[in-house]
Amino acid sequence: MSKYTLNVNGKAQPVDVEADTPLLWALRDTMGLVGTKYGCGVGACGACTVHVDGQPARACQLPVSSIGKRKITTIEGLDARAAHPLQQAWQELDVPQCGYCQSGQIMSACALLKQHPHPTEAQIDEAMAGNLCRCATYVRIRAGVQRAADIASAASGASAASAASTGKGRK
Ligand code: FES
Ligand code: FES
Repeated sequence: MSKYTLNVNGKAQPVDVEADTPLLWALRDTMGLVGTKYGCGVGACGACTVHVDGQPARACQLPVSSIGKRKITTIEGLDARAAHPLQQAWQELDVPQCGYCQSGQIMSACALLKQHPHPTEAQIDEAMAGNLCRCATYVRIRAGVQRAADIASAASGASAASAASTGKGRK
């Protein structure tokens, strides 16, 4: 066993695990962050998707010893109130069926929206292609990503308007 300190959801998290322990098990078993799921263990399903320095990554394929100071974000760290536009859209459209794959879906979708705030259907399908859903919720996932883009866009428009009316946006 070796001691590592991982930066997870903005906090330093000490873990004492074998060097080759996948990040997935450090998150779930050591830190109790069980929102990240085990699906296949071979990088093929996307259930374990987290962000590493803002990029989607398969936690089942990342040995803890390889992470260093990179910042890990899990579904639990996406939004303090669980009210990220994707989480709002997922609830509004009842996207999940069994739910097992959905934290991975949301983490991949989040990375997509950072890169493309208004993604086309083709961009959504390409970005989400590595996240499998045994319940085949793909149509609702695509609708959820589009709805989240609208929610995020409306929220940023509202905050820009509020800043303008209070003068905060002026130089
Ligand atoms: S559990 Fe990691 S990709 Fe399937
Ligand atoms: S909602 Fe059941 S696996 Fe995706």
